[in-house]
Amino acid sequence: MRGNPDTSERPGSPLLVDRFGRVATDLRVSLTDRCNLRCTYCMPAEGLDWLPKPDLLSDDELVRLIRIAVTMLGVTDVRFTGGEPLLRPGLDDVIAATAALDPRPKVSMTTNGLTLAKRAAGLVAAGLDRVNVSLDTLDPARFLRLTRRDRLADVFAGLAAAREAGLAPVKVNTVLMRGVNEDEAVPLLRHCLAHGYQLRFIEQMPLDPQHGWDRDEMVTAEEILASLRTEFTLTPEPGDRGGAPAERWLVDGGPAVVGVIASVTRPFCAACDRTRLTADGQVRNCLFSRSETDLRALLRGGASDEDVAGVWRGNAWVKAAGHGIDSAGFSQPDRPMSAIGG
Ligand code: 5AD
Ligand code: SF4
Repeated sequence: MRGNPDTSERPGSPLLVDRFGRVATDLRVSLTDRCNLRCTYCMPAEGLDWLPKPDLLSDDELVRLIRIAVTMLGVTDVRFTGGEPLLRPGLDDVIAATAALDPRPKVSMTTNGLTLAKRAAGLVAAGLDRVNVSLDTLDPARFLRLTRRDRLADVFAGLAAAREAGLAPVKVNTVLMRGVNEDEAVPLLRHCLAHGYQLRFIEQMPLDPQHGWDRDEMVTAEEILASLRTEFTLTPEPGDRGGAPAERWLVDGGPAVVGVIASVTRPFCAACDRTRLTADGQVRNCLFSRSETDLRALLRGGASDEDVAGVWRGNAWVKAAGHGIDSAGFSQPDRPMSAIGG
């Protein structure tokens, strides 16, 4: 973000409040932009231009920012993402330091699950509470085509290990794409029900580096629900969904649920409670922000915790009302999803 945002109207709250009355309490931390898969909707086969090592926050810098968020800004939930967060060497220590904060935040992670089988127990011991594993297909050949790696068995093993390590409920994230895996809604739900995982479908958002996203090609929440209803009875889960993006449905009367995250066709921006930190220390108030605030420069310039907290509050204050994907003037953020954190 160039210059300082206008915060003259901002009330004196210590929290990450914005002009529309929202309060960000859920921090997404991208630990690396690298990944050991190459999902076609996320990365080209050769990968991306990775962030140079000196640009990445060190573990100490990272933990300092998380501490500021939790103890000074009211953040209650910390989710580690990537790229692939399991590729970050100091992950267990960062999780342990996060879980040791007072008040203790809830600590979760979004991962592709490839190496979760050997990591799950250690992560739980470090303080990880929950995990979301990305899985778009049950078919090994299709998995290879979609992710350019023949690793589906590793994801299955990772999921099972997560469940055994006590990371319940283990959530599975699926992006359906037309002509690719749109026929798998029912089989994926069957699989998750059989294994005790909680499945959530996410509408594909325009975050691919190739800028190939096409609104008409997107499999919508409506279509996903229609296809699930050919085999299952879905009834809305009672209760308030709060800031949670997933609309949840009881499957065949419950207790099992399935979630649908209609980020594009039914945006939940008005209830958004997120703030995001990239692996190179930039704060973003939205996945789709056109600008970000450089906290790394502040840290390395000797700023105090209070200075950093103040700048972070300023970034939150000017958060836009919504992402506007469906509006004419929309333009995709410069960073791809893998460099922002999901
Ligand atoms: N739209 C929606 N979800 C996406 N993911 C990656 N790219 C997109 C996109 N363009 C998902 C991944 C993973 C999580 C981090 O976000 O499948 O589950
Ligand atoms: Fe890796 Fe996730 Fe991108 Fe797939 S979607 S390449 S698992 S960061």
